[in-house]
Amino acid sequence: MKIVEAGKNAAQTVVQTAMAKLVPLAPDSWIPGGVPDPLIRHKHGLIGTSVSRLDGPLKVQGAARFAAEYQMDNLAYAALAYATIPRGRIASIDTAAAEASAGVVLVMTHRNAPRMNAPAVFGSSPTAAGPADLPVMQDDSVHWNGQPIALVLAETQEQADHAASLIAATYETAPFTTSFAQARANGTEQGLFMGQPLLNETGDAEQALAAAVHRVDNLYTTPRHNHNAIEPHAATIAWHGDELIVHDASQLVTAEAATLAGVFDLEAEQVRVTSPFVGGGFGGKCLWDHQILGAAAARIAGRPVRIALSREGVYRIVGGRTLTEQRVALGAQADGTFDALIHTGVAAMSPHNNMPEPFIMGTRSGYAAGAVKLQVEVTKMNMLANTFMRAPGESVGTFALESAIDELAVELRMDPIELRIRNEPEKDPTSGLPFSSRNIVEAWRAGAERFGWSKRHAEPGTRREGEWLVGIGCATATYPYYRMPGGVARMTLRADGAGGVRAKVEVAAHEMGMGTSTTTAMVAADRLGLALDQVEVAYGDSLIPGAILAGGSQQTAAIGAAVIAAHRALVGELLKLAGNDSPLAGLSVEEIGGDEGGLAKLDDPARRESYASILARAQRASITVTEAATPPLEQMHWSMHSHGAMFCEVRVNSVTGEPRVSRFLGSFDTGTILNAKTARSQFRGGIVMGLGLALMEETQFDERNGRIMNPSFAEYHVPVHLDVPEIDVIWTDIPDPHTPMGAHGIGEIGITGVGAAVANAIYNATGRRVRDLPITLDKLL
Ligand code: MOS
Repeated sequence: MKIVEAGKNAAQTVVQTAMAKLVPLAPDSWIPGGVPDPLIRHKHGLIGTSVSRLDGPLKVQGAARFAAEYQMDNLAYAALAYATIPRGRIASIDTAAAEASAGVVLVMTHRNAPRMNAPAVFGSSPTAAGPADLPVMQDDSVHWNGQPIALVLAETQEQADHAASLIAATYETAPFTTSFAQARANGTEQGLFMGQPLLNETGDAEQALAAAVHRVDNLYTTPRHNHNAIEPHAATIAWHGDELIVHDASQLVTAEAATLAGVFDLEAEQVRVTSPFVGGGFGGKCLWDHQILGAAAARIAGRPVRIALSREGVYRIVGGRTLTEQRVALGAQADGTFDALIHTGVAAMSPHNNMPEPFIMGTRSGYAAGAVKLQVEVTKMNMLANTFMRAPGESVGTFALESAIDELAVELRMDPIELRIRNEPEKDPTSGLPFSSRNIVEAWRAGAERFGWSKRHAEPGTRREGEWLVGIGCATATYPYYRMPGGVARMTLRADGAGGVRAKVEVAAHEMGMGTSTTTAMVAADRLGLALDQVEVAYGDSLIPGAILAGGSQQTAAIGAAVIAAHRALVGELLKLAGNDSPLAGLSVEEIGGDEGGLAKLDDPARRESYASILARAQRASITVTEAATPPLEQMHWSMHSHGAMFCEVRVNSVTGEPRVSRFLGSFDTGTILNAKTARSQFRGGIVMGLGLALMEETQFDERNGRIMNPSFAEYHVPVHLDVPEIDVIWTDIPDPHTPMGAHGIGEIGITGVGAAVANAIYNATGRRVRDLPITLDKLL
């Protein structure tokens, strides 16, 4: 079995390598999206309008059931106890007091946990969802300060929490590395992102830098960040015989079910993960130890289990963004043309996970330069596995790169927007691929006009209002367009018994608050030519075919491609049913679109037949199709990215150093905007998170022992309403002809560029250049 798998993987690698060579060379028309979807420009009623979340009423009424709100008979409640050393072994663990505590059903440690396989680590296969490849509670070894060492089940949450506090352990500490400096002294290695080296070199960048007339060359540092979704992680878990059901808060129901099946030696069909509502994901709501431990405890106790992490629990066992130290060096000619672009540095990882912070990703396609060197190295620390966190790579990478560009603009006495535009590449500078769509200059021009950029004082520290120094700054935002394989949509059209039809669309996707379920309904209604209230969307369930990750800002494109494929299949089936008596007879699927409750010829809508009529003549109550999306080859054929221009006005108190952001504008180029209302919220949410990254967020990691010292909102600061000014958002709305619906993902780009826009505004206000996030007032005094 292992050999067969290895052979399969080797064959896949050969095929992938060949594809990577051939797909860029293939004619556009062979590529999905190569012939632009005719419906991109065929304006229906819904796309681009402002539609309120369809699940909004359920949420405000408290009727939306989240993972920790599933009711089950005989439910037991779980709490965890956490290790207090960074590495070593549990020498003794005393569970007697916990076992004797009121209401306790079970105390599970490595001594009585069931035998389980280690979860497959994310990225090791398409269905792997594990945070690391470590076995969970299988022996006495401790791998990070905060690792669960015991799980207590009790009749109530309070009883479980109390009993967990009675667990007493002693440890034998093994040699460990919890200081970044020590880790780097131990050594660094080349960072790999999804198996590919984070390394690009064109020409001799060091030599070009040394020879450049103008240059900047600085180090930028960014701290750890923890995930703080409004809904802490939770799952309600039950076994029915050998079938496991997990009601979870998940960004990847299909992969999570597959990975849990591997952990418990089950077939994939024996595990069902549901996740109808998620209170924020941001890359943190994947598989962590709590779902595995909760399922193990449920199996031993023979009872359903709810495991809801405390806020502290999230800090102990859910990884976040890791720390980075980045060098950015730019060498330029007098007119601003880049001769050298160097962006290198080090990120910390644990020995067992798979996620460097890929901070050069946005730099790869950002600017033209004579010579380029980009590299992420990693160094290993004994700590909780770090993971994806909104725009992993770009959010901190753009802080360094876009600060450096501002510094070079100061050195050149050039407008920083003009400097960026001067170095606009014609094709992707590192891959050589053509851009599918890149209108960043339009975004810059529109944003500058709206923000009043021309009124900026170029000389720093020269605009003062009372004791406040006022400045403005800008930065480029960027995030790739991704579409992952595996998307499938099931589409059902049913006669409603009153002369009309209703449609149901099922996708194994996720609603984490961004409006996906609403946008999916809009896209499907638009395709079908039905009203929004005639379309029902089902999602968030691993029983639905296919796999669509809510990550990489790719979910909407992946759903769109699947819905388009299913819709085409549906039209094909309907044409067969319609037969020769229909006005549509003789037409091909490509010539037909959905239109006002039926099918019509795209360029002659008078040739039409209603869905109800087609179904009735065929004596069918309903029709269902299941179809996979086209393979996402477009990403290998074009360089595909979202872009934005970020503008910030900041006020810095000259007495206290306090920085306050007073205005912010994001001007985006992200293809077709599908739902203006939820899109604006997505952009704003990203920008708010970016303000936290710029000014507040920092995990306090005790380098002596690897303990996170601020595991609460009292000490880990995120922006609150008073920290956030009115955020203005505009967009180009220029469709990318090569993507489903002309759209790009918008979930992550909003956080990118914000750190630099704030830092650059602070420089403009004060003349102080801060290269170390977060920019707290002590760095400005
Ligand atoms: Mo995002 S960090 O890919 O959920």
